[in-house]
Amino acid sequence: PLCCARNKETPCVLSGFLYAALHQLYYDPNIDNKNMAQKWLMQAQVSPQAWQFCWALLSPEKVPEIQYFGASALHTKISRYWSDIPSDQYESLKTQLFSQIACFSSSSKMVLTRLCVALASLALNTMPEAWPGAVAEMVRVFQEEGGGVDGRARCLALLEMLSVMSEEFQTSPLLLTVLLQVRGALGREWGAVSPLLQQLLRRADSPGAVKARVLRCLSSWVLLDVPLNESEDLVHDSFSALTDPELFDTAVEAIVNAISQPDSQRYVNTLLKMVPRVLALQEQLREAVQTGDMETCHGICRIAVTLGENHSRTLLEQVDHWQSFLALVNMIMFCTGVPGHYPVNETTSSLTLTFWYTLQDEIMSFESDKQAVYLQVYRPVYFQLVDVLLHKAQFPSDQEYESWSSDEKEQFRIYRVDISDTLMYVYEMLGAELLSNLYEKLGRLLTNTEQPTSWQHIEALLYGFQSIAETIDVNYSDVIPGLIGLIPRISINNVQLADTVMFTIGALAEWLADHPVMLSSVLPLVLQALGNPDLSVSSVSTLKKICRECKYDLPPYATNIVAVSQVRELHTSQCMWLMQALGFLLSALPVEDILRNLHSLITPYIQQLEKLADETPNPSNKLAIIHILGLLSNLFTTLDISKQDDESADSSAPPVKAALPPPGPNPVVVVLQQVFALIQTVLSKWLNDSQVVEAVCAIFEKSVKTLLHDFAPMVSQLSEMLGQMYSTIPQAPALDLTRQMVHIFASQTDHFPPIKALFELVTSVTLSIFQQGPRDHPDIVDSFMQLQAQALKRKPDLFLSEGLDVKAVFHCGVLSLKFPEAPTVKSTCLFFTELLPHCSDVPPLARVVQEDGKLLMQALLEGVGGGASRSLMDQFAEVLFSLNKHCFSLLAMWLKEALQPPGFPSSRVTAEQKDNFSHQILRRERVNKRRVKDIVKEFTLLCRGLHGTEYAAEY
Ligand SMILES: *[C@@H]1O[C@H](CO)[C@@H](O)[C@H](O)[C@H]1NC(C)=O
Ligand SMILES: *[C@@H]1O[C@H](CO)[C@@H](O)[C@H](O)[C@H]1NC(C)=O
Ligand SMILES: *[C@@H]1O[C@H](CO)[C@@H](O)[C@H](O)[C@H]1NC(C)=O
Ligand SMILES: *[C@@H]1O[C@H](CO)[C@@H](O)[C@H](O)[C@H]1NC(C)=O
Repeated sequence: PLCCARNKETPCVLSGFLYAALHQLYYDPNIDNKNMAQKWLMQAQVSPQAWQFCWALLSPEKVPEIQYFGASALHTKISRYWSDIPSDQYESLKTQLFSQIACFSSSSKMVLTRLCVALASLALNTMPEAWPGAVAEMVRVFQEEGGGVDGRARCLALLEMLSVMSEEFQTSPLLLTVLLQVRGALGREWGAVSPLLQQLLRRADSPGAVKARVLRCLSSWVLLDVPLNESEDLVHDSFSALTDPELFDTAVEAIVNAISQPDSQRYVNTLLKMVPRVLALQEQLREAVQTGDMETCHGICRIAVTLGENHSRTLLEQVDHWQSFLALVNMIMFCTGVPGHYPVNETTSSLTLTFWYTLQDEIMSFESDKQAVYLQVYRPVYFQLVDVLLHKAQFPSDQEYESWSSDEKEQFRIYRVDISDTLMYVYEMLGAELLSNLYEKLGRLLTNTEQPTSWQHIEALLYGFQSIAETIDVNYSDVIPGLIGLIPRISINNVQLADTVMFTIGALAEWLADHPVMLSSVLPLVLQALGNPDLSVSSVSTLKKICRECKYDLPPYATNIVAVSQVRELHTSQCMWLMQALGFLLSALPVEDILRNLHSLITPYIQQLEKLADETPNPSNKLAIIHILGLLSNLFTTLDISKQDDESADSSAPPVKAALPPPGPNPVVVVLQQVFALIQTVLSKWLNDSQVVEAVCAIFEKSVKTLLHDFAPMVSQLSEMLGQMYSTIPQAPALDLTRQMVHIFASQTDHFPPIKALFELVTSVTLSIFQQGPRDHPDIVDSFMQLQAQALKRKPDLFLSEGLDVKAVFHCGVLSLKFPEAPTVKSTCLFFTELLPHCSDVPPLARVVQEDGKLLMQALLEGVGGGASRSLMDQFAEVLFSLNKHCFSLLAMWLKEALQPPGFPSSRVTAEQKDNFSHQILRRERVNKRRVKDIVKEFTLLCRGLHGTEYAAEY
């Protein structure tokens, strides 16, 4: 054999380059040189010469780095360039590899592994035809005595080989059909592998390293669909190996892999025999827990959970063995409740949560009489689970918690969320009794004066309650009043507990709306918490929920709530929530009270804004201004007095307190009018700052959205301001607000004149932008097209005006169709689909369509022909459909003319295909929108040369 013949001359010419490059790769300190060498070597590796030089590199006098490169090159050639090798050389390649492996089995492990990978690759390429029984042959060859190489080393090499083989198989680039054949062949070879493994594992004199390899080999071979009954003995041996600390991890891996094999549930008897083996591990588990051996604990629980999770159905169905399965479930319960805090003292309990979902699902999927039997056994188990989970959810002592890293605290938070989700799920099985159960426990804790109770215990019970109440309608649970009665008894001396109390109250907001008498016992707590900066998130979100759900019952508390809210220094987003909360709250008050509260609420902000408006603009006062404008927007988003009468009309028992809004201005309008001049001052300084403009527009946009027609008194003022803003510096938010005004007020005679003036002004300003080159402002063009579409929809009369250059607007539309920004093109298509129906009733529109419609036609065809993104084809089809519906005879003429030029809209379509397209589009009586979309889709694929391709199909 090549490598063992020490002084034999190597047959191939090796340029010094190779060694130089390897030297550079390993020893050159310069990283660029290293990279260059690596690149060069990669190329050398795949070159045809590699077949020769790799053997030379492996010769024994070379250093391991060079030998390693040779072995890698060999593997690369075999796995990626297999077709280079003539089939009559398979045999000699195999022999050479075997002998190299024998040589290296007692020297470099690194090189040996690469060689084994190469042989594995060879076997995978030649199985099953060219090398049937490859595995059996390997086993035989490796076991033959001789060569002076020690038996143990050869044995390890063989095991390495077998493991690598299966691992190599998992990542093999073979085609699926070949893969399946090879997999089948490998599976059949298990018969050759398994006796060897068994023998090695059972021999008392096998060194630990050999046994560890055996287990690793087993782990990877069971993944090749080895039937569980045929690996059964080895799995039992693996269980025995668990007592050996050196073998523990690999044994766990092997067992877990074997029992989670997809078809393992077919071997019911084998599985049943596993259960006592798993149960027998409990002693070892307890010991591990006592000695704080987290790894052992984790491994044993993994085995129990895998068996339970993968086979709960199978094992549940073996009713004769119900006790042993129940014992397994209890063992998993022990794993769930393993002592110590996650994630610091243990990492095991989180492993088990999915098991509980699976088991519950299986039980609930039995038909009802069977289910009843199982429930009898398992309901108590799940009640116990709730206790265990709530125990695990408890915070550690303050001192311990302080010592945790922020990462550990975050992991614990997520763990609690997982527990919360599990409880919610378990509620489906246990029902209202679960809430009563929690309530009783809490009651006992809070009324027990003999023993001091930890806040952690109380917190966890409330947390469990809140997890359920947050998503489930607790209306029919009769323990809620009792719970609310208990809350004030909790002595809240801790932030986490206080947060949980807040969230619990928040979770009950809907229930409180139905039981308003209870508000008085919880609201003071919320208001008090509002004063604590540490509780701002939980208290503000709870207040917001209560204000939203219970606003009609809150008027007596309103003044107090507003007063408490004012003294708060909060984080920006909580300020915004708080404003929304107050908006809800004020909505239910009589108008004069709203005004009074609004006054005291926003006066400080207005004063601040006045001051800021006076200052010279700089980044910090900009943020302050945007903040105050944001507060107003949020307040006006939820302050909606119109719902007062709606609500009372809906409800069967109209709340008397919700008085009808008296005639008179809406309070929001009153406030807006008061601050209008101030806002104008702000704008005058900040007009070229898009964020401030956006914030100003947002205030009005939110107000218009909630106030609707009540906004009327502001229409002319706001129209004028918007017109000024937009003609000074055109920006998209002004157009969006204009569109909203058009939407609500354009069809009202009273408001038509200011709206009309504004519409004409912004249109003419935008048209001048188009003259100067609109490409820099796709957002303005987008908003402009939407505005035009809205105007056409709500008030086509706007286009009758002398003051509007309809033709120019149309041309802008044609230009915008060719924009690369998809949203802009979408809005433009919408504009045309709104425009075309008015060809008959709005003469100026009729004229422009008649005169310039052909331009539109061309632009559409250009887009379909490949100019526009394929995702927009439905929108283009809508415009074509609209043309077909509203200007049919013109469409026929335009299509014919536009499609005339050869090569338009794409050189890929023939004259026949174009004819066919127009013919289909023009089949008037048959055409519907869906059909036009299909026709356009088909034609656009032809134009793009994608017709019939996979790319087309998957779209
Ligand atoms: C394993 O089960 C299969 C049937 O699924 C059977 O044909 C085979 O003989 C069994 N093997 C052993 C070792 O029991
Ligand atoms: C089998 O159990 C393991 C470990 O619990 C789990 O990751 C895997 O998803 C389970 N497989 C099935 C099919 O349930
Ligand atoms: C958890 O680990 C911490 C730190 O290692 C230790 O102080 C604490 O006593 C442990 N707690 C339990 C219950 O084992
Ligand atoms: C909840 O219960 C209250 C009082 O028992 C009742 O008035 C209310 O209509 C119920 N709500 C729902 C949503 O069932």
